[in-house]
Amino acid sequence: MKVLIFGGNGGIGYSLCKCLLNQKTNIDLHATYHNQQPEDHANDIKWHRIDITSEQELKSLACQFSSLDLIINAVGLLHSTDQGPEKNLQSCQPDFFLHNMAVNALPTLMIAKYFSSCLSSSEQPKFITISAKVGSIEDNKLGGWYSYRSSKAALNMLIKNISIEWSRRMPKACILSIHPGTTDTALSKPFQANVPTGKLFSPDKVAADILDIMEKATPESSGSFLTYDGQSLPW
Ligand SMILES: NC(=O)c1ccc[n+]([C@@H]2O[C@H](COP(=O)([O-])OP(=O)(O)OC[C@H]3O[C@@H](n4cnc5c(N)ncnc54)[C@H](OP(=O)(O)O)[C@@H]3O)[C@@H](O)[C@H]2O)c1
Repeated sequence: MKVLIFGGNGGIGYSLCKCLLNQKTNIDLHATYHNQQPEDHANDIKWHRIDITSEQELKSLACQFSSLDLIINAVGLLHSTDQGPEKNLQSCQPDFFLHNMAVNALPTLMIAKYFSSCLSSSEQPKFITISAKVGSIEDNKLGGWYSYRSSKAALNMLIKNISIEWSRRMPKACILSIHPGTTDTALSKPFQANVPTGKLFSPDKVAADILDIMEKATPESSGSFLTYDGQSLPW
């Protein structure tokens, strides 16, 4: 099994790498990092440095692969060092909005564009992108978080669209949008205070959930928006 994890040095991404190494005996595991390459598992994981907002870097990376069975995009942004999710309209800034789109939405489109041919030789090609429940328009009861919500809603539309094109061109493929649940990572750290007891998940638990969904994924389920426990979410 040949696998590429984008954001392999992130909280969820690194747990996905470790979980795959534990579960699969015969795996060729590649992962990307942006700032800091993890030091552990140096012999088991082939690391590639990438800024996922760069189309050129994604295109160059795709040229290094002739085949892949599974791609997981675990890259994401909720806050930067000086900006966080907006509480109201007055705090919305064009640069932060566009940065959310550039990191959370557009890369999945570019990955599908440049890596479809690598996946097409697999018997069961799968592409999983980590989305978020706050990207659900129907589920939005609280408002706020304009940039993050919009970027994940855009991501969900892209995943649905890609699933439709793949059903015609690559009918064995499955692409899924998965909400991991609130997970104890750097991304959620500033927002964990009000998480109900038992609802802040460890990255290792979430990685196991995601891989469980991945194993059960079929071409028929392609284009679904699912929670960590496999339930469907409204768009
Ligand atoms: N944690 C949660 O509660 C939660 C809830 C719902 C959804 N999610 C989603 O789950 C996914 C994983 O998040 P996480 O919690 O694991 O967050 P995390 O620990 O902060 O990891 C984020 C990852 O994104 C990478 N990244 C950010 N900007 C990048 C760029 N320009 N180019 C390449 N890589 C970049 C980071 O690499 P560097 O560190 O090297 O920059 C890191 O690998 C995200 O899509 C997030 O929206 C998380």
